[in-house]
Amino acid sequence: MSPREPVIQVTELTVRYGAAVALDQVSLSVGAGELVALIGPNGAGKSTLVNTLSGMVAPAAGSVAVRGRLAHVPEGRQVFGELTVEDSLRLGGWRVRNRDTRPVHAVLPKLVPLRDRRAGLLSGGEQQMVAVGRALMSRPDVLVIDELSLGLAPLVVADLVAHLRELNARRGLAVLLIEQNARLALELCSRAYVLEAGRIVAEGASAELAESARVSDAYLGGVVTDAE
Ligand SMILES: Nc1ncnc2c1ncn2[C@@H]1O[C@H](COP(=O)(O)OP(=O)(O)OP(=O)(O)O)[C@@H](O)[C@H]1O
Ligand SMILES: [Mg+2]
Repeated sequence: MSPREPVIQVTELTVRYGAAVALDQVSLSVGAGELVALIGPNGAGKSTLVNTLSGMVAPAAGSVAVRGRLAHVPEGRQVFGELTVEDSLRLGGWRVRNRDTRPVHAVLPKLVPLRDRRAGLLSGGEQQMVAVGRALMSRPDVLVIDELSLGLAPLVVADLVAHLRELNARRGLAVLLIEQNARLALELCSRAYVLEAGRIVAEGASAELAESARVSDAYLGGVVTDAE
């Protein structure tokens, strides 16, 4: 079976902040319609990687290729507090001149009663839905989400995950998901990469990674250690 054509292809990417190396020859791909997770500890370089994908950070070496349209849900949501939910969504569609929020309302119906509320006054989970909705307004081929679950209640996260599954199944939306909750990421995504200190240290099918000692011990609490 031939591999699916990538919507994201990162090849031997190196990124530096001054003298510090944030990414060291990282290669990663996301196929069309594929759900891929990127897990790793704080400071590993996950946000740096996705910020390079959306052009906010420049590579020192290597390359980043995006086929089709990429939308980025940034870390910390970054909704504009003064805008209403409806205007926040429309801002997301600005580049493709899309002002029709109905398809987003169909996918994220909880946004409908909030449409005239100021985005800055919403709860964290509601703001995350706005951030996802805003990204969807650009009609992306691939959605890059930097920390889906951060600070959200489990039920809110489950709801967002269900929406992502539906978008993937119905519209073939590809997703690159950065997620501290490795269990959640590996459940949602069929393939995953593990980034530690700027390097990919493991990659493969999520089910296989979840069984590996490296991932299980460090990210899934797989082993009870007998320290001391
Ligand atoms: N603008 C910047 N200037 C200098 N150093 C930076 C900058 N942004 C990130 N770094 C450093 O680069 C490294 C990678 O940071 P990055 O934010 O990509 O990690 P992360 O994996 O997203 O972490 P987290 O899980 O905490 O969000 C860290 O050591 C961080 O301190
Ligand atoms: Mg980050």
